[in-house]
Amino acid sequence: MCGIIGIVGVEPVSGRLIETLRRLEYRGYDSAGVAGVVGGHVERRRAKGKIRELEAALAAQPLDATVGIGHTRWATHGAPSAGNAHPQTAGRVSVAHNGIIENFAALKAELQGRGRVFQSDTDTEVVAHLIDEGLAAGQEPMAALKAALDRLTGAYALAVLVEGHDDLVMGARRGSPLVVGYGEGEMFIGSDALAVGPFTKRIAYLEEGDHVAIDHGEARIFDAAGARVERPIQLVAASAALVEKGNYRHFMEKEIHDQPDACQHTLASYVDPIAGRAEAPGGFDFQAVDRLQILACGTAYYAGLIGKYLIESLAGLPVDVEVASEFRYREAAVSPDTLAVAISQSGETADTLAALRWCKERGLATAAVVNAHESSMAREAGVLWPTNAGPEICVLSTKAFTAQVSVLTALAIAAARQRGRIDEAEERRRVAILLEAPRLLAQALAVEDQVRAVSHLVARARDVLYLGRGAMFPLAMEGALKLKEVSYIHAEGYAAGEMKHGPIALIDEATPVVVVAPSDALFEKTLSNISEVMAREGPVILITDEAGAARAPPEAKLVVAPACDPLIAPLVFAVPLQLLAYQVGVFKGADVDQPRNLAKSVTVE
Ligand code: M6R
Repeated sequence: MCGIIGIVGVEPVSGRLIETLRRLEYRGYDSAGVAGVVGGHVERRRAKGKIRELEAALAAQPLDATVGIGHTRWATHGAPSAGNAHPQTAGRVSVAHNGIIENFAALKAELQGRGRVFQSDTDTEVVAHLIDEGLAAGQEPMAALKAALDRLTGAYALAVLVEGHDDLVMGARRGSPLVVGYGEGEMFIGSDALAVGPFTKRIAYLEEGDHVAIDHGEARIFDAAGARVERPIQLVAASAALVEKGNYRHFMEKEIHDQPDACQHTLASYVDPIAGRAEAPGGFDFQAVDRLQILACGTAYYAGLIGKYLIESLAGLPVDVEVASEFRYREAAVSPDTLAVAISQSGETADTLAALRWCKERGLATAAVVNAHESSMAREAGVLWPTNAGPEICVLSTKAFTAQVSVLTALAIAAARQRGRIDEAEERRRVAILLEAPRLLAQALAVEDQVRAVSHLVARARDVLYLGRGAMFPLAMEGALKLKEVSYIHAEGYAAGEMKHGPIALIDEATPVVVVAPSDALFEKTLSNISEVMAREGPVILITDEAGAARAPPEAKLVVAPACDPLIAPLVFAVPLQLLAYQVGVFKGADVDQPRNLAKSVTVE
């Protein structure tokens, strides 16, 4: 999703705006722009495409400003183009915006009716016009901003420059996050802590409906009602170092390798290794609920499905899992003793957030499994169940996924004990198995060479099927999603047993089938499915463990992951699938960290 930065600085800001936009690239974008105050006037530089295009525009026409705003745009209204890139300007006002102004068409017609001329196809331009109208009517900038905000329906985080107010940047948030950074004689606003992290560690998170004015010395924050408010300043750990690639070629590669640590840090919040006990942070009584309703999108949804397998089998607690974009609009029938659990890396995904709010409004207890601990979901859910994966920069989710599955596995054990399905000894045994996950994730990374050897098979395919049984079925769907995202190859995940009910028609010698099958209780059945594929000349890549490899048909190409208990197989077997997608993406020369059309955090519908 779009990224925003605003700086009231004492030194030239162009370089820092560009540096920040690079850090925000992970959110996904297709154009970028900056604006700065130069000699009392606001000037803009904008470009379609990558930040380097914007840099070229700045090199051709430098922007010698100490106060400025910047933006990476992921197109919603209006095609990606320099003209639709932000900042959008009207009269004295320049605006950078993340979100969607839903009533922009009506506002635009109204403004045009008053003689306002529009330069772009964006929804954002109406905001600039509304503020500029207020200024023209004699309002002070913050009053004009507030009056404009009151006219808007939809979601926004805004950064605003006003010509004639050279040391001022205004901001506002509703539906999309915005933080304020407190520096030494300098102030910042940005989309997240990563945006302002290298400039200051002192950050305040704006609340829904807040708007803010920053100058050299202070931030004046007002709530939705217009009352002056203080938001607590926190010291954030989002140091620039955390978002460097280090020796890795891509963030995706780095984040795949981060997983042993991410899993360990996450489990530390859920598992007491000495007592051999699993517990939700802060304690949660799973006897008090009769059902879980998991709500999520994309990869987080697949993590939720894995959670269903684990929680139902271990704890006997019914779990429904639904993509949030469907759940929020279909008037679901939920019982009052349901716990709604949102799962999200960003904590800002619009559909998941709306589904969570829907449940809250109906009086359900809510929890959020979230990686961004200051996000909207983290703050709005009744209970925060954190993943501690650290910032995930690649648009493709990898370490956040295994961190989510780690949380759900720990919760399954805790729920099983509380609901009397396992005794303390069995809990200790399960916890010990779970604590092996970081080590086995590290061992699983060693399959890299085996994966490279089979990746060419996948790279030249047009379609790829992924098959799995049990918890390996949602993992197969996740593997297929990873491949689609990074390589643009069509891939689908199926329950292996379902193949003969349709997908088998797709099998031919040009359609590789990736089978995820540790040597568990279902392995025998999956072997039969492998035979069915091979009988139709489908090339098989079997991801299994050593015992599975010993029983595999000789024609199957093998990737041998470490043997592990079925409890943690979804974690361990995620790694080869992620590496396969990554290798294929690299092989195809794809834009691995920022695939086309994708945004890291989808804060629009
Ligand atoms: O931030 P969230 O976890 O809520 O994001 C949900 C999906 O948008 C996300 O998982 C998406 O599917 C990723 N690109 C998957 O790699």
